[in-house]
Amino acid sequence: MVCIASNTNDATRKVLHKLEVKAKACRRCRLHKTRTNVVFGDGPSTANVMIVSEAPGFWEDQKGVPFVGAAGKNLNALLFEAGLRREEVYIANILKCRPPQNRDPLPDEIEACRQFLEGQISAIKPKLVVALGRIAGRTLLGRYMVMGKEHGRLLDRTYASASFKLFLTYHPAAALYGAETKQRLQADFRKLGSVLKSLA
Ligand code: URA
Repeated sequence: MVCIASNTNDATRKVLHKLEVKAKACRRCRLHKTRTNVVFGDGPSTANVMIVSEAPGFWEDQKGVPFVGAAGKNLNALLFEAGLRREEVYIANILKCRPPQNRDPLPDEIEACRQFLEGQISAIKPKLVVALGRIAGRTLLGRYMVMGKEHGRLLDRTYASASFKLFLTYHPAAALYGAETKQRLQADFRKLGSVLKSLA
C-alpha cells in the first residue's frame, strides 16, 4: 500500500466549494439542458494524486458523483493495482456534465468546461495527475495524442499554473473492448504504483 499523506487545507476546500457552486449553475454549453446533475469532482482537497477522466456517464449524472456503480468498481480495481485507495485520490472529469448517449465531448464543450478543471488543478496542486483516455490526455497535454502509442508515459507538465507529473493511460472502459487493452491498462496502473513509490 502506498501511503499518500494529506493535511487539512481549509483554503483549498473553500476555493473548490466556490467553484462547485459556479459549476452547478453553469449554462456555458448545451449540456446544461440535458444534465440531471453536475458532476464536479470527488475526493480530498489535499490529494497528491488526481485522476482526470472524460465525462460523467448515466449513473454519474444520476448521482452527481464521478465513477459510481460498475465504472467505480473498475476504477477501484485499477487503483488497487497501483496501491491506491479511492479515498486518497481526487477524481474529476474534463466535462462536468454528461454528453447525451455518452457521446464524445465536443471541442466547444471542452473549452466551456476548461475553467473548472483548471480551477481544480490550481487549487489542489497535485503532485501527479493520471489522464484516463485520449480526451483527458489531449486536453491536459494541449496536443493531439494516441493512447495506444503514449500510454504508460510519465511527463512533466504545467497546466493552470500548476506543475505536476502527468501519467497517461487508457480510459477504464477501453478494457471492455479486449483482453489485450485490459492487460495494458492493468500493467500501466502497476507501473503507476512504482512511480508513486519513487515520488514519495
Ligand atoms: N467514465 C468517465 O469518464 N467518468 C466518470 O465519471 C465515469 C465514467
